[in-house]
Amino acid sequence: MLTLPLQSPDDFEGWRAGAKQALAQGLSSADVLFQVDGGEDDLFGEPPAATPSTPTVATTTPTVPKAFIDLARNVVCHSDSERFALLYRLLLRLQSERSLMAQPSDPDVWRASRLAKEIRRDAHKMKAFVRFRKTGETVEFGTGSTREQFVAWFEPTHNIVRHTSGFFMRRFTGMDWSILTPRGCAHWDGKALTFSPAVDKSQAPADDALEDYWRTYYASIFNPARLKTQAMQSEMPKKYWKNLPEAALIPDLIKSARERENMMVESEPTAPNPALMRNREMPVPTDGFIHELPPQAPLNDLGSLNDMLKNCRACPLWQPATQTVCGAGTQRASIMLVGEQPGDNEDLQGQAFIGPAGKILEAAFEEVGIDRADTWLTNAVKHFKFEPRGKRRIHQNPSVGEIDHCSWWLQRELALVQPRVVVALGASAVRGLTGKTHKLGDLRGNATPLASLMKKGRELPLELSGLGGNGANDTGVQLVATYHPSYILRVPNEQARADARTALLDGLRLAKELAA
Ligand code: URA
Repeated sequence: MLTLPLQSPDDFEGWRAGAKQALAQGLSSADVLFQVDGGEDDLFGEPPAATPSTPTVATTTPTVPKAFIDLARNVVCHSDSERFALLYRLLLRLQSERSLMAQPSDPDVWRASRLAKEIRRDAHKMKAFVRFRKTGETVEFGTGSTREQFVAWFEPTHNIVRHTSGFFMRRFTGMDWSILTPRGCAHWDGKALTFSPAVDKSQAPADDALEDYWRTYYASIFNPARLKTQAMQSEMPKKYWKNLPEAALIPDLIKSARERENMMVESEPTAPNPALMRNREMPVPTDGFIHELPPQAPLNDLGSLNDMLKNCRACPLWQPATQTVCGAGTQRASIMLVGEQPGDNEDLQGQAFIGPAGKILEAAFEEVGIDRADTWLTNAVKHFKFEPRGKRRIHQNPSVGEIDHCSWWLQRELALVQPRVVVALGASAVRGLTGKTHKLGDLRGNATPLASLMKKGRELPLELSGLGGNGANDTGVQLVATYHPSYILRVPNEQARADARTALLDGLRLAKELAA
């Protein structure tokens, strides 16, 4: 029996080195024992000193599909005591059964996939339910900049702290944090990620002002009309509640949900402001669109553009809408963001992104460190398109024709703002900006020069095209396309929702970097 030492219960590199060595010696899984130094609980204890009797590492490198390596990286984090043996058995079998990973019903593949899935789920819960509490603040010597310190307590089911800490490092780069868990702790100081042994809950800080923030945020995004208690509890299992400040609100929110839902139905839609309904005696268009857009008069500022936009009657959407919802923000913003069209709340209040999608966007801004006031935030279509159903107004997607017609305004906004980056929130925004239909999936994740995506014949102003820009290598305004925040509200699947949110954050982060 060959005993192979592992430095910690999630020691993937240790397992890989040991497995290679056992494989080179032709050992079966029954002849190999992977043993965690210090036992399964010794997560981030001191690494063992190398002993002279440590067997030599094999020279041959077994080949395995990448899918196996990806799977194994997850599986080693599981608390199942059989995980290392299972992975070694799979490794052995892969040497002669090359397509083994493509057989999901094989008992070993099935079991390993199940363990990996449980790790993904545990990691997802950690990403969703870690709640930091502020513990202090330091002023950095030399720069004078302030760094805030935060600590969170979390209880993962498996050994996922190291595995998941990269996510927190990328998301909370600007603050110092520690995540304390009974399965080891992770720490970030702005320079390096470090790990330390497990602690117990008594070492985690209790209440602070952030608790109120979480409670307010949760109460504001809680939509009683969408309440499905069972689904909610499967997404936010009760075992996490004790460490979530907002969880204390849940019983009351559920109790009052039916009542609030009825109130929402009763009060929707709010009657349009009569003052805004004046001046509406325009002829009703018979051909769908009135082709009377303002002349291309010199428009030197966004204020006068918006004044003109408020009276836009260029397509039929103005008529049932309460008012035009204009773009807002900073005139020469380096980031311009484009949504699809105003929703019900935006139509009633005359301001873009103030309803549920706006809340998601605000939270994403906050997470990424973008100040909404420093951007220009607008929509591809400036009027709310809806279908009345009883007392409610149900959002309708704008047609390609409506988006194209309304892009007259968007192009002028672009020319006046002259951003470095324009973020398209969803496919309608991409269409409005380029005049062409592009697949969001082809653009997501990268920045693309807007000029390269434009419909033939549609011109970008010189200074945005890269031709009259700030240098020989200037490629002009960059387009970053990502999901629309309301897509995140709509996707029913928990994992897909988390992925979409991550994609939105990544898009905003990329835009911020490019704009800097
Ligand atoms: N969705 C959008 O695209 N824009 C808004 O202003 C609100 C919701």
